[in-house]
Amino acid sequence: MNVGQTANIGAMQDTLRAVAALPEHEARCLPGAFYTDPDYFRHEVEGFLSREWHCLGRADEIPAPGDYFVTQLFDEPLLVVRGDDGEVRVLSNLCRHRGMPLAEGTGSTRRFVCSYHAWTYGRDGELLNAPRMRDKGVTAANCSLPEFRSEIWNGFIYANLDDAAEPLAPRLGQIEALLGNYRTAEMRIVRTFEEEWQTNWKCLVENFMEAYHLSVVHPETLHPYTPTGLSRKSMSDDSFTSYCANYPASAATRGQGAPGLTEEERRRSTLFNLFPTQIASQAATLLVSFSIMPLAVDRIRVRWTMSTHGDELTQDELEERIALWIEVNREDREKLEKMQRALSSRHAPSGQLAPRDYEGTIWDFYRYLWRQVPHTETSLLSVAGE
Ligand code: FES
Ligand SMILES: [Fe+2]
Repeated sequence: MNVGQTANIGAMQDTLRAVAALPEHEARCLPGAFYTDPDYFRHEVEGFLSREWHCLGRADEIPAPGDYFVTQLFDEPLLVVRGDDGEVRVLSNLCRHRGMPLAEGTGSTRRFVCSYHAWTYGRDGELLNAPRMRDKGVTAANCSLPEFRSEIWNGFIYANLDDAAEPLAPRLGQIEALLGNYRTAEMRIVRTFEEEWQTNWKCLVENFMEAYHLSVVHPETLHPYTPTGLSRKSMSDDSFTSYCANYPASAATRGQGAPGLTEEERRRSTLFNLFPTQIASQAATLLVSFSIMPLAVDRIRVRWTMSTHGDELTQDELEERIALWIEVNREDREKLEKMQRALSSRHAPSGQLAPRDYEGTIWDFYRYLWRQVPHTETSLLSVAGE
């Protein structure tokens, strides 16, 4: 990074500070450069994204020993695999010989055999065999697959590329309270999708977390169930923000879900952003979770999973709900990709955000972003629980 770029980042940090310091009722959105400047994107990756916890998927996508899927966080190809001991591990998906990716897609295997020169690894990443290497000092001790930090919370698999990162679970007390009755950990996976969108990662977070657009962008799909006007901002703290998308009295029931749910919880979708890159919608019988993997300033990979509670919904009902979410995503994607192409404009606005119930979550997200900037004023923006 040259001096000019550094100065630019410094100016943008001043802007972020100013935006994050606005009182909630005066909240404004970040100017376009935060979504389009490649230097700022690199700064985000190096500054905090590569040191944060990211959701990779659901633990029951890989229920049996040897089940795996591959994914990627920034420069690191990852192999998510359940070992013979039943533990989920996040391993480096790179052969220790010369770096060939070991696995692709999803599957189940007894051993991972490299397709290049047949080095072989066990389900826990241990090197088992390296042909013709007996005298070369290649052993399980020095050539097994490196493992990344991982945690399971509520059935979600999280990984962190930073070995020194603070554990994730201790900071999730309040969101645990928000989701507790839904029994998120027991939800059963029904479908996984992966696609690339031409948008900045923050645009999808913000879009998913604001109710202001629901009735406009999704008149046929979401408006009948979760109209903008009934949405209410919910809990937030330093780790997450959330809102409740309440169903109108006229909407048909969406299923009973877990026995301990209140009627209120049954008649809403609870949307949350576990900072920075997981966005999810938890409803009585359906959980939809998106893992956003930033690839470039204007490009993300989205891995999304759909899970259901028990077997209350029939296969036809599940297919209907899946089709609805595919359509909702298409509607959002079209808007975000169009906006991304415009945000480089010199006139890209720092427009006013809508009232708290509709866009207050974006204000929370900006305060999270500001807390990631190294400075001494962090505590000033610490969010009190609600
Ligand atoms: S790169 Fe894997 S065995 Fe050579
Ligand atoms: Fe949307």
